[in-house]
Amino acid sequence: MKLGVIGCGKMGRALVGGILKAGIVPPGNTRVFDNYTPAAWEMGSELGVAMAQSNEEVVSESDVILLCVKPQGFLEMLGDIGSSEGKLLISIAAGVQISSIESATNGRHRVVRVMPNTPALVGKGASGFALGTTATAADAALTESLLGAVGYVCAVSEPDLDAVTAVSGSGPAYVFLMIEALVAGGIELGLEPDIAGALAAHTVAGAAELLLQSGESPGQLRENVTSPNGTTFAALESFRSDHFEDIVKRAVTAAADRSKELGEA
Ligand SMILES: NC(=O)c1ccc[n+]([C@@H]2O[C@H](COP(=O)([O-])OP(=O)(O)OC[C@H]3O[C@@H](n4cnc5c(N)ncnc54)[C@H](OP(=O)(O)O)[C@@H]3O)[C@@H](O)[C@H]2O)c1
Repeated sequence: MKLGVIGCGKMGRALVGGILKAGIVPPGNTRVFDNYTPAAWEMGSELGVAMAQSNEEVVSESDVILLCVKPQGFLEMLGDIGSSEGKLLISIAAGVQISSIESATNGRHRVVRVMPNTPALVGKGASGFALGTTATAADAALTESLLGAVGYVCAVSEPDLDAVTAVSGSGPAYVFLMIEALVAGGIELGLEPDIAGALAAHTVAGAAELLLQSGESPGQLRENVTSPNGTTFAALESFRSDHFEDIVKRAVTAAADRSKELGEA
C-alpha cells in the first residue's frame, strides 16, 4: 500500500509517526505535502518519508490519503487534488461531513471520516470513524489498523460522530480541567505546585489504566475505594451535593450540540 498525507501539522505527524512505527507502511511508500514547506520538510527529515511537490502528486501516487488539514479551507484543498479516481480518502477534519467531501470530489473516491483526539500525539488516542457511501469493509479494516497505530479506534455511524466529538474529541480538555482543579485543591492544602501536578496527572493516568486493565466497571472501581464514612466517601458526597454528574452531562451535551451546528454550517 502507498500512503499519502496532506497536512503535516501536529495530527498528521502523530498519525504518520505511529503508522510507520507500527510497520504498517514503510517510509519509502509514504509521500507527504504541506502548503507550509517547513512542516513537510520536518516530517520528511524526521520520518524519512518522501516530500511531494503538490497535493495532486500525493493523491495520484498513493492508494490511501490521510487528509490532515484544518476544517477552514478543507473543501478548497480538495479542489487541488486533481482528477485521479478510486482512492481511499481518510479525513480527520472536525465537522466536515462525508457528503461534502464526496460531492467536492464528484464521488470519485471512497471516503472515511475520523474524529481523533490529541492523546494520539503520544500514541494514546481514542478515535471514532464512519464510512462514506462507497467505502468498503476492507476500508474499515484498514482505517482501524492505521488509526489503531495511535490508540483505540471504533466504528460508528456518521451522526454518532457528534457524540464521539463530545466524549473523546473534546474529552481531553475536560480531563485537563479536572486536573487543574485537583492541583489547585492540593496547593490550597499546602502541597508544592509541582508535587500536586505530578500526583494529579499520575492519579488520572493510573485510574484510567486500572479501569482498562481490570475489566471492572468504573462504578465498581469507585465503590472499591470508598469506605463508609471515609475520606473518599466525604469527597464523593460533596460531588453529589454539587450535582457533578449533571454538570458533566450538560457539558457533553453542549459539545455535541456545537459539533452538530458546525457540521451543518
Ligand atoms: N489538534 C486537535 O486537537 C485535533 C483533534 C481532532 C481532530 N483534529 C483535526 O485534525 C486536523 C489537523 O489539525 P492539526 O492540529 O494537525 O492542524 P495544523 O497543526 O494546523 O496542521 C495542518 C497543516 O496543514 C497545512 N495545510 C493547510 N491547508 C493546506 C492545503 N490546502 N494543502 C496542504 N497543506 C495544507 C497547514 O499549513 P498552514 O499552516 O500554512 O495553513 C498546516 O501545516 C484538523 O482538521 C482538525 O480538525 C485536530
